Amino acid sequence: KNTIMNLESGQTLGEFIIENQQDFQYSTGELSRLISSIKLATKVVNHKVNQAGLVDILGKFGAENVQGEEQQKLDVFANEVFIKTLSQREVVCGIASEENDDFIEIVNQQNSTKSKYVVLIDPLDGSSNIDVNVSVGTIFSIYRRVTPEGTPVQMEDFLQPGNKQIAAGYVIYGSSTMLIYTTGNGVNGFTLNPSIGTFYLSHPKMQIPEDGKIYSVNEGNYALFPQGVKNYIKYCQMEEDNRPYTSRYIGSLCADFHRNMLKGGIYIYPSGTKSPNGKLRLLYECNPMAFIAEQAGGKASDGFNRIMDIQPTELHQRVPFFCGSKSMVEKAEEFMAKG
Ligand code: AHG
Ligand code: MN
Ligand code: MN
Ligand code: MN
Repeated sequence: KNTIMNLESGQTLGEFIIENQQDFQYSTGELSRLISSIKLATKVVNHKVNQAGLVDILGKFGAENVQGEEQQKLDVFANEVFIKTLSQREVVCGIASEENDDFIEIVNQQNSTKSKYVVLIDPLDGSSNIDVNVSVGTIFSIYRRVTPEGTPVQMEDFLQPGNKQIAAGYVIYGSSTMLIYTTGNGVNGFTLNPSIGTFYLSHPKMQIPEDGKIYSVNEGNYALFPQGVKNYIKYCQMEEDNRPYTSRYIGSLCADFHRNMLKGGIYIYPSGTKSPNGKLRLLYECNPMAFIAEQAGGKASDGFNRIMDIQPTELHQRVPFFCGSKSMVEKAEEFMAKG
């Protein structure tokens, strides 16, 4: 008897998108084309990230973004790649990005907006890690516009609560490059084979462990944390039951989230640091990660309430973020409630 061993794991991301098109609420193929465009842009960014140190892409760009952060060259490059790739294909009617003050309206040569989708994006997550060869990422969030199709896109199309997301995902440009996304029917992860430029389904139906032993928080800010977070951190460090837990913090949300997703853990970026609402942005960092966490059986909260139920009021709004294994997030919420 002859057995064929399928070492290359079979399904590609392209095949997966087509096969699962019927999952989408409105399966005209438009969302499939949009996700394919994101896939293409990630390959371009991946290529550039891999060249860091060989071509002039490391270091500061020389401008500040609306967040008050110094933009890195790769922040600007990745932002341009995503905006160009998505706008040239008429797959979105609008894009909001961490690197742009305002949202961008996408119109075609006839000056009309064809697509019914808007994308919110963190083109390059973990900017501060680029120069030291540590994993960086991309995070994206997709909504159906609420204003009528064919009319100019409006702010309200972007300021939707996370529970209205149609799809969300993140990419890690790491020791291997992965794209993980959900369309509301579970979470699937794909790994790039860089020699042929194809993503393969490597992590089908991802589930975040119900409980875990890793906590990820920038403890340098400890003195500024709310009492509930301080108490929870002490709890993580206590020698009791299956504790102390392990502390792991990379400083790239994508990479920290991904590790916790696979191994079980909690990620916390609380209030009381650089701004009263923490650092992470609700629309293009927290909501997409929350959607993925929930779709994988995990949980995401601001310490008190579900992230995806927050009604956004601003494009670059920040929010405290507690995300990961369900029981760990619930335990942290208990500490927050006690104050
Ligand atoms: P970005 O690089 O997109 O601005 O995001 C940086 C974020 C996030 O990736 C990370 O978790 C966090 O900033 C780290 O912040 P601290 O350095 O304050 O811990
Ligand atoms: Mn930034
Ligand atoms: Mn980020
Ligand atoms: Mn960023």
